[in-house]
This record gives sequence, structure tokens and C-alpha cells, in this order.
Amino acid sequence: MDKFVIEGPTKLKGEAYISGSKNASLPMMAAAILTSEPVVLSNVPRLKDIDTMCKLLVRLNCRCERKENNDLVIDCSSINSDFAPYELVKTMRASILVFGPLLARLRSAHVSLPGGCAIGVRPVNLHIAAMKNMGASVEIEEGYIVARSDDGLKGEKIYFDIPTVTGTENVLMAASLARGRTVIKNAAKEPEVVDLARMLKAMGAKITGEGESTIEVEGVDRLKGVNYRVMNDRIEAGTFMCAALITGSAIELVNAPLYAMDAIVDKFVEVGGVIRNIDDNRIEVKGNALNPISIKTAVYPGFPTDMQAQFMAVLTLANGTSIIEETIFENRFMHVAELIRLGANIIISGNRAVIEGVDRLIGATVMATDLRASASLVLAGLAAEGRTEVLRIYHLDRGYESLEKKLSSLGANIERLKQ
Ligand code: EPU
Repeated sequence: MDKFVIEGPTKLKGEAYISGSKNASLPMMAAAILTSEPVVLSNVPRLKDIDTMCKLLVRLNCRCERKENNDLVIDCSSINSDFAPYELVKTMRASILVFGPLLARLRSAHVSLPGGCAIGVRPVNLHIAAMKNMGASVEIEEGYIVARSDDGLKGEKIYFDIPTVTGTENVLMAASLARGRTVIKNAAKEPEVVDLARMLKAMGAKITGEGESTIEVEGVDRLKGVNYRVMNDRIEAGTFMCAALITGSAIELVNAPLYAMDAIVDKFVEVGGVIRNIDDNRIEVKGNALNPISIKTAVYPGFPTDMQAQFMAVLTLANGTSIIEETIFENRFMHVAELIRLGANIIISGNRAVIEGVDRLIGATVMATDLRASASLVLAGLAAEGRTEVLRIYHLDRGYESLEKKLSSLGANIERLKQ
């Protein structure tokens, strides 16, 4: 197991290139199951979760190969298995994204239930209900979802109680090859869902309304292969904006998908950050005094839960009291106890955290518990005085491409060592 050792406090300077989006790449990789022609995805980040999805596709007898550049070539012409085993699904919940595509292409799916997760229970009942609604028979057997759609899936009206991101993606993919029209009500509007819909359309799917709460899909008989460039990662970009804030530095970000980052940019500016366009794909983000603010996580276009922990790290040093309310996941404050070890003053009451800004953080050994929590600890480590060790950074490797290299090139004193 690796750890990060960070010597702080650090000033940052220079530029960081934002990678392709993890949460856009994963459903697109699953979408390759829908066609017997090759799918080439470009701008796919080098991450553990991408490797896991690749392994899963190979288990299904697809080909999944990374090229020298960040292209991923996936060929599911000889797919012959519907089995997503527990060993893989337990390491990455997003494996559930093969559920809809398998049912659509092979008319059967045998996919492990993901089980618990550090940030919440995260059930997949809405995915299952949607597939049942579209005509599949679904049973839970020995921890697995066992589903069949012998006569093919049929278009239906799907209403989501909660606008689930991967649930919407599963239905979009399945409905693209279903008979007739599917109408998804209360669909997730996240930019990654929109990017997937665009890819499916480039494969020949008939989708309208992506990015809105009602999406319509007219099923087609077959989808073709595609070359598609994945959008850049708005959460990675937001994390670097927090790095500028917490270190009081000015850095340049290349390829930040600002069009999808309104809520993040708003909070960045409210805290005291300054953002300046340099050219079409380059911005300067600059940290100044840190104002206390209130944040409430929400579905897109609201403030993303995936940025909550990073902003909390920033607010530990704000000039007053901030409040963060987490409304998406019931247990996404695991970073709080670790930030407190660095000297933060945070009290949790239910789904609210009250953060009393302190003058300084002091380095300590802390434990990463999930992907975004890990990022918040690294940010805090950049600002803390002395040595911070962040243990269990395998969580970070799931979702941040070369984070320590990108931060080092900005001047941070950060090193990866064996734990
Ligand atoms: N929910 C249900 N039943 C379901 C599905 C979801 O009750 O069948 C609940 C969840 O428990 C949660 C809420 O609905 O309370 C929203 O969950 P959602 O399904 O939207 O989350 P997800 O699709 O599992 C994706 C991202 C997460 C991100 C969330 C919210 C991917 C691969 N994952 O998860 O990303 O936090 O949407 O935006 O796209 C991350 O990258 O660190 C990460 C956790």
C-alpha cells in the first residue's frame, strides 16, 4: 500500500492539465457492450477504476486495450458472458453500469450486488426496478442480480424517485436497444449523463432531452461503433481550484470543463477565489483571503457531493464559521475526524457540519477513507505546517490521475512512498 508524504505549507505555481472524466469514461466503456463494432474512447484517464472496468469487460470476453496516448479501444464483437463477479464489483460499484447493456445485448445479466460503501448504503433498487419495468425478470440469488429479458427489453415510462446518475445511465443504454419509446422522468442531469447520451447518439441511438429532467429514447435495432472523446473531469478541476484556495496561490488550469462547473465556480468565488480566462481552454485560478460560506450538496446543477470534502478542507482555514450540508449520501463526512487530527475545528450534527475556521493546520498522519475524502486530506496537507502523511491512497488512485505528479510540478513537496 502506498502513502503520500507532504511537507507544508506550500505555495503553488505553474499549470495543471485536467484529465478526462472518470465518471464519464466508466459508463461509456459499458456502452461498448451495446455494439459488435469497435468503440474508441479518447481522453480516458489512467486510473484504477478504468482498469477495473477494463478487467470486467475482458471477463465478458470483450477486448479492452489502452493505446500509447489516452485512447481506449474496446471491442465487444465476441462478448459471450453475462457474468460480473463479486471480486470485481466489490472493488468498484460502477460495475453496475454493465447491468443495462448486458440485458439489452445478451438478454441476460448476472451481476453481483455491490454491497456497502464507505460513503453510504448506496442501494441499486432503482436500477433494478427500471429494468423490471422494461420487461426484465429480476431475482436476487446468492448476492447476485440475476436478470433475463428473453423477448428483449421494451420501452416504458421510468420514473426515478431520486435522480440517480448511474441509474439514469443504465436506462439510457438499455433503452437505446429496447423496442419502442422509453421516457425517463426525474432523470439525472449531470454532465457525465449528457456526455454518455452524446456518445450513444453518435452510435446511432435516438435520444432527446439529455441534461433535462425528462429524457426520451426511441429504441433502435442496432448501434454502431464510434470514436468519441470523453469530457474533461470537472471534479478534478474543482479539486485544483481548492488547491489554489487553500494555499493562497495562483495556478493555471488547462482544459477545465467550466461549462459544467457553475456551482463549483460560484462557491470558489464566494470563498474569495478569483478566476480569469486566459484563452479558450486555459484559466487562471487564484486563492485570496478565505471567507466562510454555506454549502448544500445537491444534484446537478447544484453543488456536487463529489466536491464537498475538498471545500471542507479549504473552509477549515476560513475567517469565520462555515456550514456544509450533505444531502446526497448519508455518511459522507468520514474526512472530518481526519481533518480534526490536522487541527480543524468541525462539529457534525446529522447531515450538517459546522466548520469554525482556525488559524493554522498542523501536519499529522491521517487515513484516507474514500476517493474524495482522500483528496481533501491531501489539500489540507498542502496547507498544514510540517509533515502530513496520508495513508491508504489507493482510494485516490481510483479517481485522480497522477495527482502527486501534477501537484509536484506545481511546486508542492509531495512524495509517494510505500506505507
Ligand atoms: N440511490 C438509491 N437507489 C438507487 C440508486 C441511488 O437510493 O438505486 C440513492 C443513493 O444512495 C444516493 C442517491 O440516490 O443517496 C444518489 O446516488 P446516485 O445513484 O446518483 O450515485 P451513483 O450513480 O452511485 C455517481 C457517481 C458518484 C457521485 C454520485 C452523485 C459514478 C460512477 N459515480 O454515483 O461519484 O458521487 O453519482 O453525484 O458516476 C466519486 O466519483 O467519488 C463518486 C462517488
